[in-house]
Amino acid sequence: MWKGRFKEQTAQLLQQYSESISFDWRLWRHDIEGSKAHSAALEKAGLITAQERAQIVVGLEEIGAEIEGGSFRFKAELEDIHMNIEAELTKRIGAAGAKLHTARSRNDQVALDLRLYLRAECDVLLEGLVEMQRALLGLAERCGEVIIPGYTHLQRAQPVYFAHHLLAYVEMFQRDRERLQDCRRRMNVCPLGSGAIAGSTIVLDRRLVADLLGFAEVTQNSMDAVSDRDFAVELLAGLSLVAVHLSRLSEDVILWASSEFKFITISDAFTTGSSLMPQKKNPDVAELTRGKTGRVIGNLVSLLTTLKGLPMTYNRDMQEDKEPVFDSVDTVKAALAVFSAMLGGMAARPDACAAAVADPNLLATDLADYLVNRGVPFRLAHEAVGKAVGLCAERGCELPELGLGDYQGISAAFGADVFELFDVDKSMEARGATGAPSPANVSAQMARWKAALS
Ligand code: ARG
Repeated sequence: MWKGRFKEQTAQLLQQYSESISFDWRLWRHDIEGSKAHSAALEKAGLITAQERAQIVVGLEEIGAEIEGGSFRFKAELEDIHMNIEAELTKRIGAAGAKLHTARSRNDQVALDLRLYLRAECDVLLEGLVEMQRALLGLAERCGEVIIPGYTHLQRAQPVYFAHHLLAYVEMFQRDRERLQDCRRRMNVCPLGSGAIAGSTIVLDRRLVADLLGFAEVTQNSMDAVSDRDFAVELLAGLSLVAVHLSRLSEDVILWASSEFKFITISDAFTTGSSLMPQKKNPDVAELTRGKTGRVIGNLVSLLTTLKGLPMTYNRDMQEDKEPVFDSVDTVKAALAVFSAMLGGMAARPDACAAAVADPNLLATDLADYLVNRGVPFRLAHEAVGKAVGLCAERGCELPELGLGDYQGISAAFGADVFELFDVDKSMEARGATGAPSPANVSAQMARWKAALS
């Protein structure tokens, strides 16, 4: 492609070192789409005839069909997807193919292809997030009545509906969706026509190209357009957070599936056994997802590090953007799909959940609230209930087993009705603040999500 300037062939060693076709072949569809749009602008500017454009389009479509069918042979000596397709086109259709690169550089071409690719993947990822939310909601609906201890510091804190816990993740994935949509909006700007760095003396209709490719806008600074990978960074950041959310859910699932918690069962289809220990049923999906999160975060850091020292504008370093981007997109898509499927085969174990939630200490805060309702300042109420809990620890008993005398010895505000507090269902009824898990609130949230996700 640059033989005019050179006398010697590129060293074999360099060819191997610099090729990107082994991974950027995946951009073929978008490269062809971009070239077709570019040919329309070339025709409009009178640089190619309608007939030449038709030749280009047919040639590109034939090449596309061969790539899709697996019969196209990519050549490492042609370095990347852009040159592989263009060289093959010119081989097939001659002069018209050789005109295609007019007023275009691989710098704006690769920026275009990556935006087109990531825009399409954003839509797939967004759908994957919706599926994930639906799967969480489905599980929440299946265990509507189940109450579990909620945890802080992984210590039992207060009772919550299992559904409330699951809906917390639905909220997280909703924010992830919003972030991806926002990122998609900034990605949806057409860089083609920026050339290598300074546009071209041959002026094409960039708006036409953008319209043909479904872009909302065209970039306004050619230097920024060829050096900008913010859209990829933003997506990797968004995907890192998706992965972190999946990883936290993984950790919950792993705990819930353990013999210590026993809150859930996972279907056989989404667990694995041990080659040694016959009793094992392992939550590998969750463990793998937690593990892969490290790679997804690493990909974000990798791209940021690649970019941080680059002077304007395009630098070859930027070819290193693709592998982390492809890896994070593939990994998060797969994680969302497998996790959603696993949730479909997950069920709560009501007996074990009920046993855990029968721990009266979960209602210690309710006791403090009771004292507050009887005029005791909260700090003093907290201290009084703390004393009651301490007394239980000394005696090796539970809060309902203390006598009224014990309670009144701690605070005169305690009445005989204190024992009525040890009823989890009543406690749940009382949690009516917006966002808190009263039965009415949780039902309303499930209905809200059901409507939003259908
Ligand atoms: N393979 C290159 C990349 O992925 C394409 C752009 C090459 N541009 C250049 N001037 N060498 O970044």
